[in-house]
Amino acid sequence: MTLETDIKRRRTFAIISHPDAGKTTITEQLLYFGGEIREAGTVKGKKTGHFAKSDWMDIEKQRGISVTSSVMQFDYAGKRVNILDTPGHEDFSEDTYRTLMAVDAAVMVIDSAKGIEAQTKKLFQVVKQRGIPVFTFINKLDRDGREPLDLLAELEDVLGILSTPMNWPIGMGKNFEGLYDMHNKRLELYKGDTRYVDFEQGDQVFALNPFYQQAKDDIELMTEAGNPFDAEAVLAGDLTPVFFGSALTNFGVQTFLDSFLDYAPEPQGHKTTTDEVVSPTTPEFSGFVFKIQANMDPRHRDRIAFVRIISGEFERGMSVKLARTGKAVKLSNVTQFMAEARENVENAVAGDIIGVYDTGTYQVGDTLTTGQLKVEFEPLPTFTPELFMKVAAKNVMKQKSFHKGIEQLVQEGAIQLYKNYQTGEYMLGAVGQLQFEVFQHRMVGEYNAEVVMTPMGKKTVRWIKPEDLDERMSSSRNILAKDRFDNPLFLFENQFAERWFADKYPDVVLSDTPFVE
Ligand code: G4P
Repeated sequence: MTLETDIKRRRTFAIISHPDAGKTTITEQLLYFGGEIREAGTVKGKKTGHFAKSDWMDIEKQRGISVTSSVMQFDYAGKRVNILDTPGHEDFSEDTYRTLMAVDAAVMVIDSAKGIEAQTKKLFQVVKQRGIPVFTFINKLDRDGREPLDLLAELEDVLGILSTPMNWPIGMGKNFEGLYDMHNKRLELYKGDTRYVDFEQGDQVFALNPFYQQAKDDIELMTEAGNPFDAEAVLAGDLTPVFFGSALTNFGVQTFLDSFLDYAPEPQGHKTTTDEVVSPTTPEFSGFVFKIQANMDPRHRDRIAFVRIISGEFERGMSVKLARTGKAVKLSNVTQFMAEARENVENAVAGDIIGVYDTGTYQVGDTLTTGQLKVEFEPLPTFTPELFMKVAAKNVMKQKSFHKGIEQLVQEGAIQLYKNYQTGEYMLGAVGQLQFEVFQHRMVGEYNAEVVMTPMGKKTVRWIKPEDLDERMSSSRNILAKDRFDNPLFLFENQFAERWFADKYPDVVLSDTPFVE
C-alpha cells in the first residue's frame, strides 16, 4: 500500500453529545464491530461494574462520567478508524474543545426523547466553527421519544444546520418495528429473526401497520419538502445526515457505521500560523499536541502527549523538531491506542493519533515537524478560567510531591496556576468546579500529596504589560499575580473592581490575553 492510500483509508472523528445520550454505548458497539471487544456491553457497564476503556480514571468511575478524552482505534471494512472520546461534562469543555481540533468529523448523538440538550449545543458550535462534517445519530428509539419530524426541525431551528434523513423509524418504544432505510433501499427489522427485507416485502409484512404507514407518509413529506442527500454539502458541514437507531439493542448502529465510513472525510490538512495548509500527503512528518495526560493507566506512572499526525508517516525513533523551542526531540517511546490495551505503534500516518511518552518536554498546542518542513500549526483555543481557589500542601513535609504534582497537572492543561505576586501563594483557576475536584483527587492518587483548597470565588483575569507592573496597584479586589510563564496579571473581583481600576490607572492596558512578543 502506498503512503497515500494508507492515509486515505483513515477516518478520525469524535462523538459529541450531552451526558447520557448514549455515547459510551455507541462507542462500545463500534469497537465491537471493529473486533476490538468480544461482546458489546462488556467494556462499560455501570451495571456490570466494568467501565469503558474510555473512562480512564477513578473519579470517572465514582461519578460515572467521562472526564478525559481518550483515543480508540480499530479496523473495519478496509478503513482504519480513530475515535477520539470527549468528556461530556460541561466542566471539561476546555479539554473537549481541544480534542475537536484534532478530528476531521464529528458524530452527534441525540436522545430521541430529549432532543438537543445544552451540552450538544455548545459542542456543536465548536464543530460548526471548524466547518467539519457532522453526522447525527438519534438514539433510544426502543423508548418512546419525540416525533422524528419534530427532531429534524429542531436540528434546523436550534443548531441552524440543514438535515437529511438517511433512514426513518417505523414506530418507537413498544411499537418500534425498525427502520425504513431510504439510503440502502431496504427495511431493517427490529423484531423477529430476519434483519433486512426489501421494500416490496415490507409493504406486505407491514400492510396494516399504522406506524409503517405513518413512516411512509413522513418520508414522502421529507422527499418533497426536505433536503436531498448531497455528499458535498455534508463534507462542507452544511448538511447533517441523520440516522435513527437504538444503541443499547445494537440496532441501526452498523448501518450508521457503514454509511458514515463511506461519507466521512479522509484526513484533512491543517492550518498554520501563516494561514497555509499542510496537506496530509506532504512527505515530511508533522503533527500537533492536542492534549497531555498523566498516568492514564495506574500500572504505568507516565505522562502522555497526544499528537494528531497531520502529514507523512511516523517512524519509531524518528527525530522531530519542536517548533516552540526549535530543538530536536527523538520520538522513541510512542504508543497507539487500541480498545483493549495500549500498544506500540506499528504504523501511524496522517490522520492517526500517537501517544508520546513525555517527561515535561511538550505543551498543549506544540507543533512537531521533520525535514525541511518549517511550520507551526495555528494555536489551539484556550479558555480563561472564572473560578479560583487558593491551594497549599496539607503536609508541609510533602512540598516536593506537591510541587511536582501541580507542575505536571498544570502543564497537562488540566487546570491553570497563578502565583500571588506579593505572598507567592498558589492560586488555581478553572472553568468549572469539577476541575478542582479532579485536581484534588489526582494530587492524592497520583502524587500522594493532599492539598488544602480555599475558595476565592469568581474572578476575571486581566494581563498587564511587564513594564506597567507596580506592586502598589494591588489590593484585595484586584490581586496582582503571575501566570505560570511569569506574565503579570490582575485577578479582579468583579467588573466594578475592573472599572474602578481602569479609572484610577488609565495608562495601564488590561488585556484578556497575555502580552507576549
Ligand atoms: P453517555 O456516554 O452519552 O453518557 O451515555 P451512555 O452510553 O452511558 O448511556 C446512558 C444511559 O442510556 C445508559 O443507561 C445506557 O444503557 C442507556 N442507553 C444508551 N443507549 C440506549 C438506547 O438505545 N436505548 C435505551 N433504552 N437506553 C440506552 P444506564 O447505564 O443503565 O444508566 P441509567 O439509565 O440506569 O441511568
